[in-house]
Formats: sequence, C-alpha cells, structure tokens
Amino acid sequence: CGIIGIAGTGPTSERLIEGLRRLEYRGYDSAGIAVVAGDGIERRRAEGKLKNLEQVQRDDPIDGVTGIAHTRWATHGRPTTDNAHPHTAGVVAIVHNGIIENFKELRNALESAGCVFVTETDSEVIAHLVQAKLKIGMDAQSAFGEAIRELRGAFAVAAIMADLPDHVFAARKGSPLAVGITEDETFVGSDSMALAPFTRKVIYLEEGDWCVATPGEVRIFNEAGEAANREITISSATADLVDKAGRRHFMEKEIHEQPESVARTLSQYISAVDEGFTFPAGELGLKNADRLIAVACGTAFYAGATAKYWFERYARLAVEVDIASEFRYRQPALPQNGAALFVSQSGETADTLAALRHCKENGVRTIGVVNVPESSIAREADVHLRTLAGPEIGVASTKAYTAQLSALACIALAAGASRGVMTAEETADKVRHLLEIPRLINEVMQVEPKIEELARALTRHKDVLYLGRGQFFPLAMEGALKLKEIAYIHAEGYAAGELKHGPIALIEEGTPVIVTAPWDELFEKTISNVQEVAARGADVTLITDAKGAGLAGDGYNVVVMPTCDPIAQPIVAAIPLQLLAYHTAVFMGTDVDQPRNLAKSVTVE
Ligand code: G6P
Repeated sequence: CGIIGIAGTGPTSERLIEGLRRLEYRGYDSAGIAVVAGDGIERRRAEGKLKNLEQVQRDDPIDGVTGIAHTRWATHGRPTTDNAHPHTAGVVAIVHNGIIENFKELRNALESAGCVFVTETDSEVIAHLVQAKLKIGMDAQSAFGEAIRELRGAFAVAAIMADLPDHVFAARKGSPLAVGITEDETFVGSDSMALAPFTRKVIYLEEGDWCVATPGEVRIFNEAGEAANREITISSATADLVDKAGRRHFMEKEIHEQPESVARTLSQYISAVDEGFTFPAGELGLKNADRLIAVACGTAFYAGATAKYWFERYARLAVEVDIASEFRYRQPALPQNGAALFVSQSGETADTLAALRHCKENGVRTIGVVNVPESSIAREADVHLRTLAGPEIGVASTKAYTAQLSALACIALAAGASRGVMTAEETADKVRHLLEIPRLINEVMQVEPKIEELARALTRHKDVLYLGRGQFFPLAMEGALKLKEIAYIHAEGYAAGELKHGPIALIEEGTPVIVTAPWDELFEKTISNVQEVAARGADVTLITDAKGAGLAGDGYNVVVMPTCDPIAQPIVAAIPLQLLAYHTAVFMGTDVDQPRNLAKSVTVE
C-alpha cells in the first residue's frame, strides 16, 4: 500500500491524488483521501483503480489544508469501498500500510469497551485505539505515540484529527516512510517518488520513529518517545511522471528500454579504460568467503538463482539461493566467513528486508543489489550495488531483471578475479562479452513478430511448460512467472532433466512447451528432453541460436536469438520470454501493467 499526507497551507486534495499516482504501483485495489475540513474530517474512497477515486472526487469534491491519502493492496478484508482507507473513529482518520499482527486482541478489547467497528480490516483498530486514548484525556501527541507503541507488526501509519487542522501524525515500523519539508509545508509519504512533486528535501524515518508534522516543521521521536534528530537528504527522485513514450503499455516500453538500461548498469561497474571492474571485490567480502547466500522474492529471486551458476562457475564460490519468506523463518545456518546478497528492484520488499536485517544482526556482511537508491534495503545493506534500470512501472519486472543479472554477472566475475579463479585475461574477455549485451538485446528484439504469432496460439491454452538446463533453468521459471503474472495462464518452469520425474505426465497432444537452449555444452542433453516431450505430442517452441537451430532437427517452432558468450546468454534470452508473456497478455486483453491481485512493491510479509 502507499501513503501520503500533507500538513499544508494551501488546498491539498489535488496534491494528495498527485502523490497517490506515484504510489499506485504499491497497490491498486482501492484508494481514498481524507482532509480536515471546516466542520470535521471528510473523506472520499473508491474501490479499484485510482481513476475511480478521481471520479468520486470530481463528482463530490472535498478539500482542506491538511489531509492523508492511501492506495491499497488488500491484506485483511476484501478490496471494497468500505474497507478502503482512510479509516475513521471519532475525530481520528488514519491510513495504514502493512499488517497489525495483534489487531484481533486490540479489537476485542476495544469492542468490549464499546467501540463499533465497521470494516473487515486490521487497520481500523489504529483509529479506534488513538480515539480511545483521546477520550480518556490524553493530548493528541501522546495519544498517537501511545497507540503506536501498542501495535505489533510491520507497518507505516499516518493520521489526522478533526480538531487539529494543521497536524499530520505519522509512524514507521517495518514499512518505509519519508518526511518531505518545504518552508511552509510538511509532507509524509511511502517513498521519495511520492514526495518529488512537492519537495526534494527528505528525511527518512528510522525504524520505530514517529513524528508530528505541522506546516514547515516536523518533530521526530524514536521508539522510546525521545526527541530524535534525523538527517535531511536531498532526494534524486524526479518530479516528472514517467510516461509510456508512445507505447501501449509501460511494460512494452520497459522491454524495449533494455539495451539502454543494461548498458547503464554495466557501465556503472566496468571501467571503459582497462576493461576491469570499478569496484574492489574485496570490499564485498567475497575474496576469502567460503559461502554466499542470495535472498530475494519473485523475479529478483530468479536473478539470484541465475547468479548462483555464475558465482560457482567463475568464482568457485558456493552459493545458496533462498526465497526471502522461507529464509527468514527457517533459522538458517548463516555463513561464518561469507556474505549475504539481497536482490530487489524496489528495495522495500518486506521479506527481503527482514532477511537482510536478520543477517546484519548476526554479523553477516550484507550486499544489496537494488534499483531504488533511496530504499530501505539500499540504505541498510553494508554495501549497496545499484542497478540502473530507472523507474520500472509495469508490475511484471523486465528491465529491472536484466539490470539485476547484469550487475550480478559483474559481481561474480569480480569475485572470480579477486579469488584468483579467473586470470586478468579471462576476466577482460568476459567483460568484453558483457559489453556486447546491449547490442545483442537490440538484435534479439527482431524476433518480436515471430513471438507475436506464437503468443496468439498460446492464448488457447490453459497450461504451459517452460524448460531449461543449467543457467536456463531459473530463466524457465522466470518465463513461466511472467506468463502467469500478466496473461493469467498457468505455467511451470522446470529443469529439463527433471521433467521425466513427474511433469511429463501433463504432456498431451498440443501442450505448449517453451524451451530456452542456446548452444552450450548442455545443449544436446536439453534436446533429448525436448524429444521426449515432442514424442508425446507437445507443441515445442525452441529459443536457441543459429548453431542450436542447425542441430536441433525439425518439428519445432524455432526462435533464433543472436549467438553470444555463455555469460550473456541468459540475459539476452530473457527478452523473447518477456515478449511472449507480453503479447499473450495483450491478446488476452488483460491489464498488462497492473495485473489483478498483484502489487509492484510488496511491503507486507
Ligand atoms: C512483487 C512484484 C514482482 C517482484 C517481487 C520482488 O511480487 O510483483 O515483480 O519480482 O515483488 O520485488 P523486489 O522489489 O524486491 O524486486
């Protein structure tokens, strides 16, 4: 969910909605705003996308100089208008991001004391809790601070009160929250992007912090309630809303941006002069490491899973890859002499952040590979390695993924060099191959018309199998994820050699099977597996290079990608899979950029 609040001197409604536009990537199940108006709090809410709220606000406008707003990704309670934030109780209105773990307990106690709840959400309890404290005579600041202290879970909250027309209260514990200030107004928001239209002077609240914002002023308190000083930073977020550059969807634009986004990311790590790396791998703690753990969610997890092949092959470094939500609760045996890598586009994914904190608390060196530089993971990791994909708006990750892979390839090779596994010459050779990737991505875009044809055929199917061996196994899972996410077609990514141990039972006449296998030392083995499915009636699409196409034999739909070095292959081969999911989704008529039930940044566990 996304939060924005303004303690202002001018009308706020339009600006609150402007802030929400930039936060819609965090959830779009419903949205709402509340302002302190002449005779109390007024609010407008709507189910579904932000444009519905905009319509409600146009039909029946509200305004005031102080207000809060929210865009929701439902956790507790269906995405209805009633469950949409802000929630109110008495003089209090709140917006909330995250989960209140002890809400049942609190709700029961408040209900016994006579409070009447009107929603299915965990969030409503916050409004009642603050109101209950006001009722027993606490002043506003103490009531808010005390209420926050009683909440368990990971959350960010902003609140306004009817009788304090120039105050916004806010708190962060586990979910991000930033404060933006100008001479005469103060803003709170889930990220600096939401604050960018109003100010670049940003204060990031720390864990457990809460604050009282009044026009042009903010008082910050730490978890213990003591006044705290937090540094003002100048945010780099741009005030311009990213546009689609004439494309139908952000996702389409982002797919086509990859030659530049990969080039930008690579140039951050590669010195053009000596074809070496610009960062000392020693700093990463990998030189003498005996183990690396890589933790992430979703697409970022598949980037980590691909990097495992690189770290093992080029740096002889043992890597464990983990899904963050599993890692954090498994009591993992942490490396004594190693490091932990966290891959994240947003840098705010709750599970990945929690896993990072767990490692830090236990003395493990942490490396973040993150796209949003001001995010929590970027700021909290011991070492932050940036991906320079630029803002990614489409919920299904494309350019952030290839930027992650590009950065991870550099890290793996640099580690290989520092560990003495790769000679200077071998490293320079690989670097030259990495630098070819932007051009190769450009070339592989030429398969788009062919992919469109294949996509049209996929729309008739309910199940699709993706196969790959070696470094193409994680890519098969990523390809399947893309199709599920945006085309809503069930898909599985499988290791080609594992197929005969179960999933081959699913193959019947016409079952689509997408195989990624540019020529490498495993090619023939993959082709044997392809023959196993083809013999059982599968409709095979083979994504391979010229040499692979020559050797594969007949009977497949062949998509020919450019010939590239092994380190470039999974990055270049990702593009046909992205295009396939994209065009299938377009034919299916789904909401490509904001697919149902998903959110771009998942700040709940
Ligand atoms: C969400 C998004 C995915 C993304 C995952 C991890 O589920 O929908 O596209 O891969 O979160 O996000 P992160 O920001 O940590 O890379």
